[in-house]
Amino acid sequence: MIRKRTAILISGRGTNMGALISAAMDPSFPAEIDLVISNRPDAKGLERASEFGIPTAVVDHREFAGDRQAFEAAINDVLKEHRIELVALAGFMRILTPYLVNAWSGRMINIHPALLPSFKGLATHERALEEGVKIHGATVHYVSAEMDDGPIIIQGAVPVLDNDTPASLAARVLEVEHKIYPKALELVACGKAKVKGARVLSGSQPDDIQDLIWP
Ligand code: GAR
Repeated sequence: MIRKRTAILISGRGTNMGALISAAMDPSFPAEIDLVISNRPDAKGLERASEFGIPTAVVDHREFAGDRQAFEAAINDVLKEHRIELVALAGFMRILTPYLVNAWSGRMINIHPALLPSFKGLATHERALEEGVKIHGATVHYVSAEMDDGPIIIQGAVPVLDNDTPASLAARVLEVEHKIYPKALELVACGKAKVKGARVLSGSQPDDIQDLIWP
């Protein structure tokens, strides 16, 4: 099996990155993690990636003085240097322009801590509590030019409990993130997550995902 050369883009602690790296340590996993890029030199995830022996690069957005296309061109150059085929955004906190999104159309995925299309943007757990939703969760989707938009590959749901705080809810959602992101990358890398219009018709069977859904 030829495994897809995959890069992970991060801005912070990189726990989702860690989940993807762990899954890809299985030689039968259809993607291998060949590169981690951070836009922040102090991102904790960079150390974590190095501990796993994965090459890392920093493309610091502050060095581009607001020129977003130049920032993205620099990222693209590093991706090309490493002959990357798939990109997984994992807590990468920069809004991308159509320049990079279009260059990687169908080959770039993102994880968002909410059940899209609800709660796009930031502070998703706070807003879920404010709105009083009873089910919350996380989504992995193909990246499109709109923020937190694009065909949904997989979702995982958790209950919202009466005594939840944003932190307790975030922790419950994060556990689900760590399950669904490797599953989504697997589906994409082996070509099963096919986009049809606005939807992804994936090869994922109910059995594969039943433990991602509560109750
Ligand atoms: C995760 O909860 C991820 O879903 C979120 O940032 C966190 C990163 O944590 N991403 C977004 O909010 C993107 N819109 P991690 O660095 O531990 O993976």
